[in-house]
Amino acid sequence: MTNVAVIGSQWGDEGKGKVVDWLSERAHVVVRFQGGHNAGHTLVVDGVTYKLSLLPSGIVREGKLSLIGNGVVIDPAALLSEIAAVGKLGVSVTPDNLRIAENCPLILPVHRKVDQMAEAIRGKGKIGTTGRGIGPAYEDKVARRAIRVCDLADEMLLRSKIETLLVYHNALLKAANAEPMTVDEILAPLLAVAPKILSFAMPVWLLLDSLRREGKRILFEGAQGIMLDVDHGTYPYVTSSNTLAGAATVGSGMGLSGIGYVLGITKAYTTRVGSGPFPTELTDDIGAKIGKIGNEFGTVTGRARRCGWFDAVLVRQAVKIAGIHGIALTKLDVLDGFDSLKICIGYRHDGKLYDYLPASMKIQAEVEPIYEEMPGWPESTHGKRSWVDLPAQAIKYIRRIEELIECQVALLSTGPKREDTILVRDPFVD
Ligand code: IMP
Repeated sequence: MTNVAVIGSQWGDEGKGKVVDWLSERAHVVVRFQGGHNAGHTLVVDGVTYKLSLLPSGIVREGKLSLIGNGVVIDPAALLSEIAAVGKLGVSVTPDNLRIAENCPLILPVHRKVDQMAEAIRGKGKIGTTGRGIGPAYEDKVARRAIRVCDLADEMLLRSKIETLLVYHNALLKAANAEPMTVDEILAPLLAVAPKILSFAMPVWLLLDSLRREGKRILFEGAQGIMLDVDHGTYPYVTSSNTLAGAATVGSGMGLSGIGYVLGITKAYTTRVGSGPFPTELTDDIGAKIGKIGNEFGTVTGRARRCGWFDAVLVRQAVKIAGIHGIALTKLDVLDGFDSLKICIGYRHDGKLYDYLPASMKIQAEVEPIYEEMPGWPESTHGKRSWVDLPAQAIKYIRRIEELIECQVALLSTGPKREDTILVRDPFVD
């Protein structure tokens, strides 16, 4: 029995929420370790749709413990409204089923303001962030001026930390002709939510250590995807955290040896929200058709996702960088009925061939995809629950992907419901 980290192998939105929910049936604990409420995970359970951003996907299952690790940036107001929203759907969130690391940095209203201001200044070169203050909150963490969950317990300390923080941010806001913020604008709402947030706070690393010793099965739930990783993604069009499996240890306090299997969630085609390079993007009718069938609209911002063919070069890169043991292939059914399908097997740039995506932002923007074409399948794969029910051509598509990305399929998701899942290899017992 091993602990599993689930991460996205493309640009996010691969369907992690559903797979984590499915796997959490066999896990005792689900842990978020990076990102914040920029993430959007949609779960459909017994006909009820849950849209989660910050809460670990395990929260909708009774008897599971959900943990938010120190690598996550928390907007306290967003967390409490998400807790209230799932409460209305019958999910009760208490310190019995949710614990938050006391060393989590907080996202404050000033971070949102600075995020939106920075995007406006970037103009055409904007990143297309979710505008939720994620980047500025991580900047404050690295700059060692972040306000953390544990600081909520001490009003004097909190006030003085906010004063220090505002010296920096107000200088930026003034330079951009924006209204500076006052200490009380930040402090008052924090003090109002402090008791509630603190009721969930604890040293999560310590809890994880004892859960591990007790032999509990732990599932680490990543957000975004490898191509949005701040180091390995399509920089600067990335999020501000590391999205690799390695981030699960840093962002939770669980030692490296505590994670035995990395499951990469991979969509059967490619999507991206926000700006940045996307070599296999389809700006034609085919892209629009994929987007429509796949319902490719952001859970968090509602933005239409850009759609394109499967990029085997990028996913192979993700498999290697993140040490992915097996993939969960999702949304295969969206490709049902296409006459033919293309898979990107390499790039061409300036007379040179690449079997990886180089780091240069100029080359990333200019590479031309090299495609291989395969026939599609007229039959439906939607909701299929056994490998033998899949059309032969769909199996050929999967096998070719496995070959090109140098990694095998462990799970196949054929629809949004929990039950629409074919298990090939169980990550927990691999
Ligand atoms: P930020 O994380 O809000 O700073 O946004 C940085 C980039 O990451 C933008 O291109 C966002 O669209 C993208 N991004 C952030 N979170 C997600 C996600 O959960 N899914 C897909 N893209 C995301």
